[in-house]
Amino acid sequence: MRSVTKDNITDVFMSYLSADTDPRTREIMGSLVRHMHDFARETNLTHDEWRAGIAFLEGCAAIESEDRHEFVLASDVLGMSSLVDMLHSRDDATSSSVLGPFHVSGAPALPFGGDMKRHFGGPVLLAEGTIRDTDGAPIPGAEIDIWQTAPNGLYASQDAEQDTFSFHGLMTVGADGRYAFTTVKPVEYTVPSDGPVGDILRSCGRHPWRPSHLHYIVKAPGFRSLVTEIFPDDDPYLDEDTVFGVRNDLVMKYTERAPSEFPEGMALSGSITEPFLHVEFDVTLARDT
Ligand code: BEZ
Ligand code: FE
Repeated sequence: MRSVTKDNITDVFMSYLSADTDPRTREIMGSLVRHMHDFARETNLTHDEWRAGIAFLEGCAAIESEDRHEFVLASDVLGMSSLVDMLHSRDDATSSSVLGPFHVSGAPALPFGGDMKRHFGGPVLLAEGTIRDTDGAPIPGAEIDIWQTAPNGLYASQDAEQDTFSFHGLMTVGADGRYAFTTVKPVEYTVPSDGPVGDILRSCGRHPWRPSHLHYIVKAPGFRSLVTEIFPDDDPYLDEDTVFGVRNDLVMKYTERAPSEFPEGMALSGSITEPFLHVEFDVTLARDT
């Protein structure tokens, strides 16, 4: 086509796709390009503005590494990670939420009642619950991969002071589907904002804070794996999570309990002398059909 105009360029783009283009590729590329062209027409995008967009992508690529996933962070703060997640979340299961870039695979086994807090200061949190199927029956042998930041708001992979698997644990539940562990009360923290994604946040007058949370990946044979998070209901950033990860069913009450209420059979049993926090969070997994 030689008579390309600003009005027909989207159709011209589509006409360039070969007849045997995979139908899903045609659908996705067609929709993406149509929305991009509409965006440029709607905003009357200038050369300088489009160049700034390309410079943003180049800036992300320049700092992308094993430890720094700036494109994923861009997807997170633009709401795309959460939107794609919600498009495929099951209504009858626990909601999924963002994975984030700080999960470390291969965490050491954490036995039932085990402790992740160790020597770190801060309030003790006892987290427990049952892993169930959509009929409410426990799922024996389900596995929970748990991770969170230290009280300084940093994940192990961001912090030279922590060992590799600090605040990471992998628990396998027994026949009753129950899990329980102690940790430190999670704190709110900021996503990295010293790169191009930080520039976007600042240009939109947005902050980089996430409400405090615990991360879980829950897996069991025959079930869809679930990547999720739990948030306390009194966190100041609950309604303004910079990565849009909060869902109603993931907001839990952390209740304060007297030391005498701390259960037996846990790693910290007998050593709790201060009030501690308690949260009960059941997880429902959907069958993998
Ligand atoms: C996190 O919760 O670990 C996280 C999620 C998205 C971006 C950065 C961090
Ligand atoms: Fe996190």
